[in-house]
Amino acid sequence: MLDKYLKNNKTLWNEITAIHARSEFYDVEGFKKGSSMLYPVELEEMGDVKGKSLLHLQCHFGMDTLSWGRRGAKATGVDFSDKAIDLARSLSQETGIKARFLCTDIYQLPEVLKGKFDIVFTSYGVLAWLPDLTKWAEIIAHYLKRGGTFYIVEFHPVKLIFDDSHGATKLEVTLPYFQPAEPFKWVGGMDYADPSAKHHNVAYEWQYPLGNIITSLINAGLRIEFLHEFPFTGYKALPFMVKDKEGSWRIDGDLIPLTFSLKATKL
Ligand SMILES: C[S@@+](CC[C@H](N)C(=O)[O-])C[C@H]1O[C@@H](n2cnc3c(N)ncnc32)[C@H](O)[C@@H]1O
Repeated sequence: MLDKYLKNNKTLWNEITAIHARSEFYDVEGFKKGSSMLYPVELEEMGDVKGKSLLHLQCHFGMDTLSWGRRGAKATGVDFSDKAIDLARSLSQETGIKARFLCTDIYQLPEVLKGKFDIVFTSYGVLAWLPDLTKWAEIIAHYLKRGGTFYIVEFHPVKLIFDDSHGATKLEVTLPYFQPAEPFKWVGGMDYADPSAKHHNVAYEWQYPLGNIITSLINAGLRIEFLHEFPFTGYKALPFMVKDKEGSWRIDGDLIPLTFSLKATKL
């Protein structure tokens, strides 16, 4: 069953990669000239990465991986979409930013990647694709050196229960906070980077409460250093958000958490 979910999601992400590669949102041409999609939250909270080995899980087509590379990290990006990894490798070549990219399901990573890292990093839109958080946390712990840092910045699970469809005008709960027995199945989803594009392939997604995320990391042997919750996102993640003076996106009244970040240390 798990294979079915992962196989479908991989096909979907190959489809999505082609949409993203030509989207204004990702602005690949701008990236080649030096722009970055790393947001102030992760830049500030990750701090100096110069000379550090960094493993980026679910790296998509590598723009963030390469952005950490530009800042001096020795970066390795992992994603199960072969189209995404092909593009990541060609961006690395074209920009001259050195990074290693591996095409694999993160759960299979120990079969193809040896070694330990100073930092394991993952961001925005990753957890929903994972069928097993316990194993996810074990993979993170496995790849961290003792004293190494895990950092995640992700959409807050509270944000994910609200209607984000094109016509949504206010906060309206459409999904449960707690994951039902089966993953959610979506067909014909709208693309977040290009709302004019509809997906043709099926998506299977999971919803993880904050408690599950934190507990899986603690159980894997990590010490939580901080958990921050923010009333904004880096881009327009709900149709009725408005941009603030700093360029972040908010809902009127900052009513709910929209993003969280977490830093943990391998004991
Ligand atoms: C929303 S994207 C991450 C976006 C990233 N923050 C960015 O903007 O570039 C999620 C990524 O997870 C990858 N993915 C999903 N399930 C995976 C798995 N089991 N193993 C490896 N990669 C996976 C997808 O291929 C996709 O590239």
